[in-house]
Amino acid sequence: MVSSNRHEFRISKDLAALSLSAARDFARRAQATVHFKGVFNVVLSGGNTPKALFDVLADERVLGLSRPIPWEQIRFFWCDERFVPHSDAQSNWRMTQEHLLSKLSVPKQNVFSVPTEGLAPEQAAAEYEQVLRQAFGMSTPEIPVCDLVYLGMGPDGHTASLFPETQIVQAVVANSLPESQFVAAVWVEKFKMHRISLLPNIINAAGSVSMLVCGEDKAEALEKVVAGPYEPTHFPCQLIVPLNGQVWYLDEASASRLMAQNRSLVPDF
Ligand code: 6PG
Repeated sequence: MVSSNRHEFRISKDLAALSLSAARDFARRAQATVHFKGVFNVVLSGGNTPKALFDVLADERVLGLSRPIPWEQIRFFWCDERFVPHSDAQSNWRMTQEHLLSKLSVPKQNVFSVPTEGLAPEQAAAEYEQVLRQAFGMSTPEIPVCDLVYLGMGPDGHTASLFPETQIVQAVVANSLPESQFVAAVWVEKFKMHRISLLPNIINAAGSVSMLVCGEDKAEALEKVVAGPYEPTHFPCQLIVPLNGQVWYLDEASASRLMAQNRSLVPDF
């Protein structure tokens, strides 16, 4: 494990080891947070990388924990969602159900999905913002403080649904959005699809942010995001600068360029 000014890197051999490392951290954080405040508010990421983490968490025996994960006291949110029905194969909610939630006893009222049917994308974003505020007993303009946020990163340096050169990223960079807004509906041209995404402000306010990044195809973007010049319009992942720090769960392949550039970065195995 290596830390720099605000990045902590945990470099594992492969996706399985990365997922095990992140799962152990999840269990520790969930147990401690529930012990101290009775609830653990976690924001999940979509895409493919989290599937292995969810599979490990769904069978926590592999973690050899001394105490079980307090699933009944954990509340689940999403950092972004594809604007498709939850039954759609592209739905992050569906992926999370299949790999994690359907295997656990989680009270339905603790799962806060993004509404994606029967309303316009902009309405869905506004509704999800209210769902989060109500879940945290807040009113506008307050911004909820989640305990843990998971994010992935694409080979183009996007995170959540904040893609390079898009209108929403340019608005965030220009600071032209209402200060109280923390969810947005975004059109993603490359996928010809709307998405609903948390914005950097609520992510950066979280208790902790864990980045799950795996694969050789992300090595170049990772080096640019972490060690390159600050160009958030091209690399929106650079907009994620959590007040309480950021832990990068990487595999050797995704970390390869970063390790070649920074000899102090060594794998955790
Ligand atoms: C999504 C995610 C997205 C994802 C990255 C990485 O809805 O797809 O939120 O930001 O984390 O695209 O995706 P992979 O894990 O599939 O590489």
